[in-house]
Amino acid sequence: MQSPGPLDLGPRVRILLCTMAKDTLTVTDNRTGRTYEIPIEHGAIRARDLVQIRLNPDGGGLASYDPAFMNTASCRSRITYIDGDAGVLLYRGYPIEQLAERSTFLETAYLLVKGELPSALRLAQWTHNITTHTIVHENIKGFMEGFRYDAHPMGMLVATVGALSTFYPDAKLIHDPESCRTQTHRLIAKMPTLAAFAYRHAAGMPYAYPDNDLSYTGNFLSMMFKTTELKYRPNPVLERALDVLFILHADHEQNCSTNAMRSIGSSQVDPYSALAGACAALYGPLHGGANEAVLRMLREIGSVARIPDYLARVKAGEVRLMGFGHRVYKNFDPRGKIIKQLAHEVFALTGKNPLTDIAVELERIALEDDYFVSRKLYPNVDFYSGIIYQAMGFPIDMFPVLFAIPRTAGWIAQWLEMVQDDEQKIARPKQIYLGRERRDYVPVESRPARPDRRRDSTGRTSSLGWPTWPTTACWCWLNRPSPPRWMLHVGRRTSRAPR
Ligand code: ACO
Repeated sequence: MQSPGPLDLGPRVRILLCTMAKDTLTVTDNRTGRTYEIPIEHGAIRARDLVQIRLNPDGGGLASYDPAFMNTASCRSRITYIDGDAGVLLYRGYPIEQLAERSTFLETAYLLVKGELPSALRLAQWTHNITTHTIVHENIKGFMEGFRYDAHPMGMLVATVGALSTFYPDAKLIHDPESCRTQTHRLIAKMPTLAAFAYRHAAGMPYAYPDNDLSYTGNFLSMMFKTTELKYRPNPVLERALDVLFILHADHEQNCSTNAMRSIGSSQVDPYSALAGACAALYGPLHGGANEAVLRMLREIGSVARIPDYLARVKAGEVRLMGFGHRVYKNFDPRGKIIKQLAHEVFALTGKNPLTDIAVELERIALEDDYFVSRKLYPNVDFYSGIIYQAMGFPIDMFPVLFAIPRTAGWIAQWLEMVQDDEQKIARPKQIYLGRERRDYVPVESRPARPDRRRDSTGRTSSLGWPTWPTTACWCWLNRPSPPRWMLHVGRRTSRAPR
């Protein structure tokens, strides 16, 4: 409700003013003196409405500049809601805490994709549809065998998901509901298979085929860890813990990788190609690669006694405290709280991860430190997830892959919403051009030996200018003398077992 201003004229006038309040924004362009009234809907103005604000009728309209989408909504969505100040996360309206306690990953995936919790019959059909799509074409196996023995599993996943598009050309029919349904089943079903194959490739183990008698996470554990036994029986505690972790990671509204999924998908490419791009975005250490980075950081710190030194480096801007901070949460990440609880259940079975003490103490000190408090930096979902994954026996390289499997449900739900949204078009942001004005091509023999160092309008030296120190450093590195042959083998791992 609007405040009537400093002069309070009594309740009647207040009511009148309130009823007169309009959902518009009045803007005066001080360059021209003209005033514009722009509608506000759902707490936002349409950036397109700014186009009418222009200096002269032939000039370009006003644009908004928002690198990294700090305050720009790119879509209207009905899937996931986050209140970052209150630490709230809802999937289709259901609190994450309730889903983590009472749902299963496959049921949550249905909820995200279809919008409602399934009936018992629908859930059984959905589970059957996913389960019967877990196997991959034998050529996919051959494709994966082509990777180097030490390929990062996330790189393998990115490439192999993209390669799936060549196996399913019907996926191009993105406006055909039947095709969309089939690709949805295939993607949710095949991601664990690809992930497990990627792991076994690096481990030098034969790929284990899906076991459709097991649950979604039970089957994944089987494909990961099955050795010579005829039937792998997953530990129910670990199976359920993984299922809860998958629920927590299933969607998170318009994050970096989801935005990539929507943006790539807006060109109307098939969902496998779009999902490969989303996986690539997730791989980065500031996003889904953070869980891997947290473990490496905890190992680097090494002991509780060395935490203050590390935090001093963080505060000096030398390194980031991985697993801390979030673009949206300025309070505890609700998923982090659930994971911390889950850790106790897993450790009761597996024994405590020795890195836990460092993590707990790091969190305690950081949450009392003004640097983190003033910037509202709290532990995010990745701070504790890696510690559990490691206790469960997953190698560190697999952590971002473990994020990508459940996030596939969210990516598809968001992609389907985008495909069905009449307002969406091909994503194409504007830019603010600060480069050179038009100039004519100069033949190489007429160019000066040392190009001039004219600066562009940002004050930066032109990229065509004389090398600055980073380019010089790169040049020196690229032209360094070749190392002796023996050095090329230092630190190189050998394949553990023949396949
Ligand atoms: N460690 C130290 N300082 C940090 C951290 C951190 N982890 N995160 C943010 N800050 C500081 C920044 O230096 C900046 O300080 P300044 O105002 O003095 O310059 C301030 O907090 C704001 O940081 P931004 O980078 O502007 O925040 P942004 O919203 O762009 O970044 C991000 C969010 C990328 C998650 C960031 O907090 C970060 O890098 N965290 C570590 C990586 C991580 O854990 N990522 C996982 C996120 S959850 C997920 O994707 C699943």
